[in-house]
Amino acid sequence: MADGFRVRLVAIDDDPASLALITAALKAERDLEIITATDPSTGVDLVLRHRPQVALIDLMMPGIGGMELLERIVEVSPDTDVILITGHYSPESAVAAIQKGASDYWTKPLSVALLRERIGKLIEQCRQHYTASLLDGEVLRANQFEGIVGRSPLMLDVFRRIRRIAPHYRTVLITGATGTGKELVAAALHRLSPVAENRLVVCNCSAVVETLFESELFGHVRGAFTGAAQDKMGLFEYANGGTVFLDEIGDMPLDTQSKLLRVIENGEIQRVGSPAVRRVDLRIVAATNRDLRELMAQKRFREDLFYRLSTVEIKLPRLCERPEDLPLLIRHFLGQFSTEYGKTIRGLTPRAQLLLARYSWPGNVRELKSVLGSACMMAKGDIIDIHDLPEHLRRAPAEAADEDLLTLEEVERRHVRRVLERVGGNKAKAAKILGINRTTIYRILGEESAEAGAS
Ligand SMILES: Nc1ncnc2c1ncn2[C@@H]1O[C@H](COP(=O)(O)OP(=O)(O)OP(=O)(O)O)[C@@H](O)[C@H]1O
Ligand SMILES: [Mg+2]
Repeated sequence: MADGFRVRLVAIDDDPASLALITAALKAERDLEIITATDPSTGVDLVLRHRPQVALIDLMMPGIGGMELLERIVEVSPDTDVILITGHYSPESAVAAIQKGASDYWTKPLSVALLRERIGKLIEQCRQHYTASLLDGEVLRANQFEGIVGRSPLMLDVFRRIRRIAPHYRTVLITGATGTGKELVAAALHRLSPVAENRLVVCNCSAVVETLFESELFGHVRGAFTGAAQDKMGLFEYANGGTVFLDEIGDMPLDTQSKLLRVIENGEIQRVGSPAVRRVDLRIVAATNRDLRELMAQKRFREDLFYRLSTVEIKLPRLCERPEDLPLLIRHFLGQFSTEYGKTIRGLTPRAQLLLARYSWPGNVRELKSVLGSACMMAKGDIIDIHDLPEHLRRAPAEAADEDLLTLEEVERRHVRRVLERVGGNKAKAAKILGINRTTIYRILGEESAEAGAS
């Protein structure tokens, strides 16, 4: 067939006559490629190399038994249907084989009719999977909005809001837990706005040194403070005519907040150290994963700014609130990492899928992305299995009970690791959540600090 569909079958049997029978019986199957070996260890290599959808294995061979071979194949190629063939059938050994992961157990002598019928069915099954995976690709393409993947009602609502707001907004507040895609939404808003051809300038408020905040946003004139050797343009002026994305707005100092309000209300800025008022024409998108109302109650966020920003708000749901999106996102990231790592990762084994579906994803899409990124890197074949996934996903909730009997030091270490995993390994972010500095993270993890002395 011209559509690229092909089923590979590896047959391993020390009896060449048996292999000849299989090959002859299935000769007419056009979409089937048959690879044979009389030597078991060559057979395993063939399975590793070709990743067949089906393996037919003789149970009795010199050197290595079919059962052992079965175990190895299930381990290295979990996606292969392994069928054991034996001259000495017993229900016990059949059950044992099925429990070890065999998909069927046939008795010799094999008849041509049985081979054709059973293998024909398997080919049909593979064809259905193949068509479904092509369809998945189409479903994925159809369920993206400006690079944001989602088909759940909650995300469709987000897409609808973005589409409606983008042509008109002056300020938008994007809220949602860490890793839910706030930055993607900000970029989409700008791309769909009337000023899309002008700049989108990003300022991550949590990364700006407090004393330099105003100079960063508004610029300064020469001599405004020690170190201000030259006039400098700030972000707002630089973005004039376009959009400024103020990420982690909850980290903006109070006095800068009042100046921001002035920009929003009057489009006015002043460079630090200069009395001259300049006018800017800007759209402002702000984002936060913190609860601004709580910050407001603590007097760390200005009320007037909050009400001004929150008139147009886009709330991003957590990943666990939209399980329908999980399979789509998985496919999206597998495709992305396959390209990035030059591998072809076709999917996950059913048991790996189950683990991902059961997990609560506190770090949301970012955590999913980082889990799949490392799984793609680890995966030996073209399919991800449970041992490619991080340990905390594999651990049954019951095992967590062991944690009651740990030293404080170990609890501390585990907690730091967990937080790090949730923020996709971003140490600065983890330090912030943990309320410690980055060097302390290195100390707790017992790692050499790359920036020791610098912080
Ligand atoms: N719906 C989605 N479709 C595709 N990729 C997504 C989606 N949501 C998030 N991502 C990806 O997940 C990662 C985290 O997203 P993003 O940086 O936008 O999160 P965030 O909400 O800004 O998180 P934080 O509050 O921690 O900054 C990014 O790599 C982003 O591309
Ligand atoms: Mg962000």
